[in-house]
Order: sequence, then C-alpha cells, then structure tokens
Amino acid sequence: MLVVLKETAGEVGQEAARIVAGAVRANPSAVLGLATGSTPLGMYEELVALHHAGNLDFSKATSFNLDEYLGLAPADPQSFQYFMHSNFFSHVNFSPEKIHIPSGAMRKDFSAYCESYEQAIKDAGGIDLQVLGIGRNGHIGFNEPNSSLASRTRLKELTRETIEDNRKFFPQGAEIPECAITMGIGTILDARRIMILATGKSKAAAVAKAIEGPISSSVSASALQLHPDVIFVIDDDASYALTQRDYYRRVLELTKKYTPEKLS
Ligand code: PGA
Repeated sequence: MLVVLKETAGEVGQEAARIVAGAVRANPSAVLGLATGSTPLGMYEELVALHHAGNLDFSKATSFNLDEYLGLAPADPQSFQYFMHSNFFSHVNFSPEKIHIPSGAMRKDFSAYCESYEQAIKDAGGIDLQVLGIGRNGHIGFNEPNSSLASRTRLKELTRETIEDNRKFFPQGAEIPECAITMGIGTILDARRIMILATGKSKAAAVAKAIEGPISSSVSASALQLHPDVIFVIDDDASYALTQRDYYRRVLELTKKYTPEKLS
C-alpha cells in the first residue's frame, strides 16, 4: 500500500483529484467508483474546477457509487443521489446514462436489485479506480464492522455510531435511515485500483488499524491490505496514530524516483 501523507484536508482533496483526473485522462472511458461524505468534497470541487478550466472531459467515463440510504427518494436532499448531483454531476459532463447510484427507494426484492447492481459493474468492465472514505469504525462504503470480507452489494444495517456520525447531514429532529444499500468489501476489492481518503483526528484510530493492524472483519478497511494497488491519501490529523510515518515518507520519495507511474 502506498501511504501519501499530506498536511491539510485541502491538500488531500487536491491530490485525490489529481489521481482521478490522471485516470480519466489516461483512459477517457474509465469506470470510476465514487464515494459521498464530507471527506471527498474537496476532491469533487477540484475536479469541477479542472473540468471548467477545460482540462478534464468526463463524457465517456462511467461511474458507480458505493452506497445509498434505504428509504430516501433520489430527490431527498439527504440522499447520496442528491449529494452526487449537487456536488459533482451537475457541474461536469458525465452522460446521465453512465451514472449509477444504488436506489434507496425500494421496499423489497433487495437481493435481486443488489445482484443487478453487481451485474451492471461487470457489464461496464469492472471498476478501474475506486474512491473511498473511511468511517470512525473503519467502515468502507457502509460495510460496518463484521461485514464479510467477501461481501457483495447488499442491504446493510447501520451501527448506532454511523447513524450518529451522519446526523449532522440531516435537519434537526429528522429520522435517520437505519439501513443502506452498499457495495460489499468483495465488490470493492475487485476494483483494479483503490484510493482511500481520510482527514481529521476522528479518523486517526481507524486509519492506523486499517494500515498497520491485522486484517479483520472488525475493521472493514483492513481488507484493503489484500489488494495489490491501494493508495491512502491522509492529512496530518488522520495520520498521527501511524507508527511508521517516516518510512511511508521515504517510500513515497523513492516511488517518485523509481516508479512514478504508481503515483499518476
Ligand atoms: P465522512 O464519511 O467523509 O463524512 O467522514 C466517511 C465514511 O463514513 O465513509
């Protein structure tokens, strides 16, 4: 795993956007796996700026979002569908038919729907670059602790911690969804390349467990240790519990020198 240590959350966003932009420039038909939440907001802002500057064309790209709350209609301002359109898709030139976000509107037949989402990813040729955030409990997507490391897209029950963490995005007194449709850890590990972003002190413990802890279903992000091409981009606050920071810095310098393509 490559660990890229940045000072600030703003730099994390810029670095993440540079890597996504590089993937789309290298392959305009790239299939991107996209994430919501506060962490990737800076990345989306920067990607929108690159697009407006005429430097980035998404017209041939395809996207699959990681997850969606169960019970929220696409037009609900708290839905991830709404988040993606207001923060990203409405400002760039993705073809609407190439955008895929799990639907939270269904009431039954979840497994058939989730299988169709998996099939759509396969039909698109698989995900080239998957962007992830990380929860305080180490979740990726909504793969809460104890999710099978082989899990596929499915309905998942959210932990109390996740529900509380997400309360800030909902109006006061609103009911917060208790479940979500999420890509599984197995789905995520099928991506050809994975980039995971983390900012802020509240993520430091989860980041340290994911990078330096044992692989365990108690920390879903630790499953990324099984993947051959993962890049962590984290700010100072999120990195302070790592024990090998100096080594990660050296690895980065030597990667720039000998294998810079790993950073493009
Ligand atoms: P956040 O969420 O970016 O809003 O902190 C990350 C996550 O829960 O995956």
